[in-house]
Amino acid sequence: MTEAILLVGGQGTRLRPLTSHIPKPLLPVAGVPFLTHQLARAAAAGVTRIVFATSYLAELFEDEFGDGSRLGLELEYVVEETALGTGGAIRNATERLRSAPGEPVLVFNGDILSGVDLAALRDGHRASGADVTLHLKRVADPRAFGLVPTDAEGRVQAFLEKPQTPEEITTDQINAGCYVFTRSVLDRIPAGRVVSVERETFPELLASGAHVRGVVDDAYWLDLGTPAAFVQGSADLVRGEVASPALPGPVGDALVLPGAHVHPSAVLSGGTVVATGAVVGEGAVVEGSVLLAGAEIAARASVHRSVVGRRARVGEGCVLDSVVIGDAARVAEGNELPPGLRIACGAHLPAHGVRTSASPVPCAAQGIAHSGVPHASSAAH
Ligand code: GTP
Repeated sequence: MTEAILLVGGQGTRLRPLTSHIPKPLLPVAGVPFLTHQLARAAAAGVTRIVFATSYLAELFEDEFGDGSRLGLELEYVVEETALGTGGAIRNATERLRSAPGEPVLVFNGDILSGVDLAALRDGHRASGADVTLHLKRVADPRAFGLVPTDAEGRVQAFLEKPQTPEEITTDQINAGCYVFTRSVLDRIPAGRVVSVERETFPELLASGAHVRGVVDDAYWLDLGTPAAFVQGSADLVRGEVASPALPGPVGDALVLPGAHVHPSAVLSGGTVVATGAVVGEGAVVEGSVLLAGAEIAARASVHRSVVGRRARVGEGCVLDSVVIGDAARVAEGNELPPGLRIACGAHLPAHGVRTSASPVPCAAQGIAHSGVPHASSAAH
């Protein structure tokens, strides 16, 4: 038996308003709740039992996946009354494990789309006798991540959280959010309080002389935490840039789910997903975007690298680039929305509602939120 703990209790603040009603790991990505892809991969790697560490919108996970039999997995759910942080969540979930002290337990973040070879990570951990093995990735700009330099044998030398100065950036290897712990090591994490595995547990293990191992690979890897990454991950799955046993259709330029309506003259490309009940009107262009269930793109609108929430409507002739439209929001015809704009759930943006001047957007009271892009209007509430 191989057990795993899945961390899914975060609030997903960087993806608001998409995460206002759905936790990030359950947002539809390439047509199915994101976690379905990672759970299918875990099952394929021989994982048999997974404990979900939930907190934010906790009950929705069990509603979606139940006992896991549909995926060939045995699933359990633990709920934190108040979020315990990544380490506290792992410790809390450890209570439900059945693995013996010397057995390897996989732990992974619920928001990473990854092609890592989980079976090889687990087997390598066992063979090395390490206390913890971390999956590491090389990235071009490591400033937003925790850095993990290793020596020639792959032993971790330090944990450097979100370095800023060039002197602090001593490696391009980052913590990829997927670990193998020897079970007994999990039991040593303090119980009943907030703990960060990245800032507290790993540095303490290193300081105590534990064998902490890093494995770098070239597999696909993407942290779906931001809107840009979210649409990228979905598009990459649809186009087959990363394989998933859970993709609900053939690999291609677009995925149109049953019950969606796309006008024959509309053009879909770049790994776009049109979910059930969504409508794409005459002459509309949708590229690299995610249209959630019941979303509507009116005629001749142009939507690029954006997410359009459930039952949201984008009016005729609108132009969107890298925008997030919350559930049930409405964007009136002719709007050109600047990159980075986010529109709150249920908000109404009237015709010409976004200007490039400093004057406020008239519909501020209905909750337009934006990401601080300089040329967007500044009426955020
Ligand atoms: P942001 O708020 O946008 O940063 O997203 P997030 O809340 O998901 O935080 P982050 O990306 O740092 O979290 C990494 C992983 O740990 C995600 O899979 C989260 O669901 C999970 N996580 C973060 N904090 C907690 C927690 O307190 N409890 C549990 N159970 N999981 C957590």
